[in-house]
Amino acid sequence: MEKDEVEKRKLTIVCRCEEVTLEDIEKAIEDGCTSLEMLRKKLRIGMGPCQGRTCIPIVVRILARKLGKHPDEIGYPKFRAPLVPLPIKLFEKAKEEEHES
Ligand code: FES
Repeated sequence: MEKDEVEKRKLTIVCRCEEVTLEDIEKAIEDGCTSLEMLRKKLRIGMGPCQGRTCIPIVVRILARKLGKHPDEIGYPKFRAPLVPLPIKLFEKAKEEEHES
């Protein structure tokens, strides 16, 4: 691999919440991570504030490419509610209204 290509992989951040680079992911796969769950445990991918909504689809494609599979064979995790980050005040207000009624 050319020096420029190696440098690009070091600088390409895939999971910006956990600051995981393309190089980190490819190295983990080469070291034996063969599933999304293994990559999540090793690199904390998908455990940041966005809960993987940004990075997981990209990581699935990288994993599929490296393993010679289709992304559908890797699979995507199911996202749990809330689907978008909510301010905690909403929950406090709902609890207050519950007590008032
Ligand atoms: S970008 Fe990976 S958890 Fe947010």
